[in-house]
Amino acid sequence: MAQGMNKDIAVLSVVEGDITTLDVDVVVNAANSSLLGGGGVDGAIHRAAGPELVHHCRQLGGCRTGEAKITPGFGLLARWIVHTVGPVWKGGHKGEAELLASCYRGSLELAASVGARTIAFPAISTGVYGYPAAAAAEIAVRTVAGSRLVSSIHFVCFDASTRRIYKALLTDSEPA
Ligand code: APR
Repeated sequence: MAQGMNKDIAVLSVVEGDITTLDVDVVVNAANSSLLGGGGVDGAIHRAAGPELVHHCRQLGGCRTGEAKITPGFGLLARWIVHTVGPVWKGGHKGEAELLASCYRGSLELAASVGARTIAFPAISTGVYGYPAAAAAEIAVRTVAGSRLVSSIHFVCFDASTRRIYKALLTDSEPA
C-alpha cells in the first residue's frame, strides 16, 4: 500500500501550548526562506532541537515561500521537523491564500513520505508575517480536512484567541 493511501480520514484537534513539547511524529516549523532560524516558533524549535538543526539546515539551500523541507527532529520529541515558509501578508491580493494552502499541503505530503502518522502545525504566517489569524485558520482547516495522508493533525495555538478561532472552525466542520 503506497504511503498515506487507503487510511481513515485524519482526526483534527486543537491544542494550546508550545509546539516544541509535543510528542508527535512531525512538528511543522513556520520558517523563513533561509531555514537558519529566527524568532517566534522558528526560534523556539531551533532552541529545543539544538545546534545540530541549524547545522543540518545549512546543507538544504533554503526554501521558497509555499514550499517545505524535512529534517530530523534532533533534540525534539518529534522524530521530524517539516520547515515550511509561509507568505508575508500583503493585503490578500498577492496570492497569499494559495501560498499558505501550499504550506499545509506540502507539509502533509512530506510527512506521509516518511510514514509519519501524527503531525502538529503552528498557525503559520499569523505572527511576524502578519497574516490575519481567522483567515489563515480557515485556509489551514480547509486545506487539511479530509486528508488520508496522516491519522491525526494537531493545530497548536500559542494564545487563547487563536485557539478559539480554530475551535470554532473545527466545531463547524465536524460531520453532522
Ligand atoms: N509553539 C506554538 N506556536 C508558537 C510558538 C510555540 N513555541 N511560538 C510562537 N508561536 C505562534 C505565534 O504566536 C503565531 O501564532 O506561531 C504562530 C506563527 O508566528 P511566527 O512564529 O511569528 O511565524 P510567522 O508569522 O510564520 O513568521 C515567520 O518569523 O520567527 C520568524 O524565522 C521566522 O522569519 C520567519 C517569520
